[in-house]
Order: sequence, then C-alpha cells, then structure tokens
Amino acid sequence: MPWGIGLRVLVVGDLMVDVLSEGEVHRLSPEAPAPVVLQRNRSHTPGGAGNAAMNLAGLGETVLLMAAVGKDAEGVLVKDILAHHGVDTRSVMVTSSVTTQKHRVMAGGRQLLRLDVEGEPPHMALESVRYLVRSVDVVLISDYAKGVCTAELCREVIAGARSAGIPVVVDPKGTDYERYRGASLITPNLSELRAATNSSLMEDQARDLVNRLACAVLVTRGPNGMTLFAGQAPPFHLPAQAPIVCDVTGAGDTVAAVMAACLARQMPIRRACQVANACAGVVVGRRGTSTISLDELTLPVRDAGWPGIRWEYGRSVHERPR
Ligand SMILES: Nc1ncnc2c1ncn2[C@@H]1O[C@H](COP(=O)(O)OP(=O)(O)OP(=O)(O)O)[C@@H](O)[C@H]1O
Ligand SMILES: [Mg+2]
Repeated sequence: MPWGIGLRVLVVGDLMVDVLSEGEVHRLSPEAPAPVVLQRNRSHTPGGAGNAAMNLAGLGETVLLMAAVGKDAEGVLVKDILAHHGVDTRSVMVTSSVTTQKHRVMAGGRQLLRLDVEGEPPHMALESVRYLVRSVDVVLISDYAKGVCTAELCREVIAGARSAGIPVVVDPKGTDYERYRGASLITPNLSELRAATNSSLMEDQARDLVNRLACAVLVTRGPNGMTLFAGQAPPFHLPAQAPIVCDVTGAGDTVAAVMAACLARQMPIRRACQVANACAGVVVGRRGTSTISLDELTLPVRDAGWPGIRWEYGRSVHERPR
C-alpha cells in the first residue's frame, strides 16, 4: 500500500494542549522574587495523543481520535486545530472537568516555568471503542497516564484488534504494563522502561517485557537512537539520525505514530524502525512540538509499495496480526 493513500488509524489516549508563551524579561516582580515575563507570542499545539494524531494526519492517514477534553476554551481550541489538520474528532468527548495542559513559559531561549493543568480522569465508553476498533486498519494507544488508558480500555482495544487481525502500537506509561499484553509493539523510552521492570540493564528490562507481554519492544533512547527487541532475535540498534537537534519534545509521539503507519502497511518491523528513526531525526531538528509530513519521508520510503495487503470492502485485511 503506497504512502499517501490513507489507511484508517484509531488513536486512543490522553489528549493534551501544549501552550507555549514566549516573551522577554526586563525586571523582577515587586510582589515576589520572580521574573516578570512580557509575553510576545503564545501558541497552542495538540500534545500527547493529539500530537500522535497530528503526525498520522501529516502522513496522509485517515485519523480517528478517541480522547477527552474539558469544558473550556482550550478544549474547543484543540479540537478545532485537530479538525483543521484533518483529524476526525467526533469521538473526542467533552467532560465537565478541565482540559489537560502543559504551559511552558520561555524567555531568552530558556524555560522559566511549566504550569500543568490536569482534569478528572474521563470515563470512555467501551462499546464505542469496540465499534471503532472494528472500523480501522491499525490502533495506536497513546498513554500519558492521565486516565483514559485504563486496564479495561487497553484490554478491550487489544482484544478487538487481535480478533480483527490489525496491529496495535502502544506508547506506554506507568508501572502496570500488564494492560498492554498482546499488543503488537510498545515504544517505551528509557525511563518508562525502567519504571516498568525490576532489572537494571536495558536488555534485561526489554526482554522481560517481550516475554511477559508477548509483544515487540522498541526502546527509544533519546540521543542514542533506538533499540528493537522482537521475539528472541538479537537486539536491533539504530543510532540517532538527527543532523540538527533543536527540540526533542514529542519525538516519541512521532516514533509511535510512524511505527503504527508502517506496521499497518505490513512493513517488516526493522524497516519500520528505520523509517521511524529517520522521522524522529527530522522532528527533533525543529523548535516546539513538531510533526512529520509525507513530503519529508524520503523518496525510497514514500514510493515503495508494501505487499501483503488484500483489499476488501474498501479496507485492508491483514493476513495475521503483527
Ligand atoms: N537529543 C537527540 N538527538 C538525536 N535524536 C534524538 C534526540 N532525542 C530524541 N531523538 C530521536 O527521537 C527518538 C525518540 O526520542 P525519545 O527517546 O526522547 O522519546 P520520548 O522520551 O518518548 O519523547 P517524548 O516523550 O518527548 O515524545 C529517539 O529514538 C531518537 O531517534
Ligand atoms: Mg514519550
């Protein structure tokens, strides 16, 4: 299936808003020993599951987002931004709580403050999840431990995807990884991997998860690239491929999103890691939370057709889950 002909992707997870205030500091506050920032610019960007969804929309996929926002201006804004970029937000529920936000205040190129806003954990309807999973080619669970990705929900998504024969990629968080059992791939960073296991060596930690959860594990290692552990094969290391590093925020979302797009196209998993690593290298070269676009996939990747996908009633049917 060539790139550019969108597959249907369901992103389930914790949607947030990254608010970035940039300004200048000329004086200290007379009220407290704190700098006064004169704001020159403020921007809002979808974060968490929203960032993963934006990456997939940027790759030309048809993206359904299942998430929650609060009953506030930020919730309206983030849904508008996502819809403007082509993400289907009809399954983004509006709760009576507040929208999860990470507000960064920057001056002189430095972060002075991060202000987090967190609402009540929403309750997602399992029947809707069940229905949506049956209508897509791949699922991405983007767990930021803000309450959407309960064990119950993860189990429902993974069981549904397995019976439909579609892959599930998980960007995990927390200590209870049992909920991800049976997913095709999980993509922890080093600290997430450490938090989930008892061993001290990366290889032991990853192997422990591969064996316990029956899934592949792609460890993202920041400036040291990434390492794939799949089955009993030796680890597959990829060094970071970033000519310029400006801002690493959200690179993990890009990795999970690109892996989902590649696995949905039945690309061999090592090849998928190479594509995801190249894409992460592109997004870390830009300021702010940024996403990958179809134009930025290198020509050999973009123009390759991926064998092994049958078409039936307008959606792809995979021979076996990955
Ligand atoms: N400093 C860096 N230099 C080069 N490449 C980087 C750097 N940081 C991240 N990357 C690339 O981005 C990938 C994902 O980054 P990382 O391991 O930081 O994920 P993460 O912690 O989940 O990120 P986030 O949670 O902010 O989305 C890495 O595997 C690597 O390819
Ligand atoms: Mg991450």
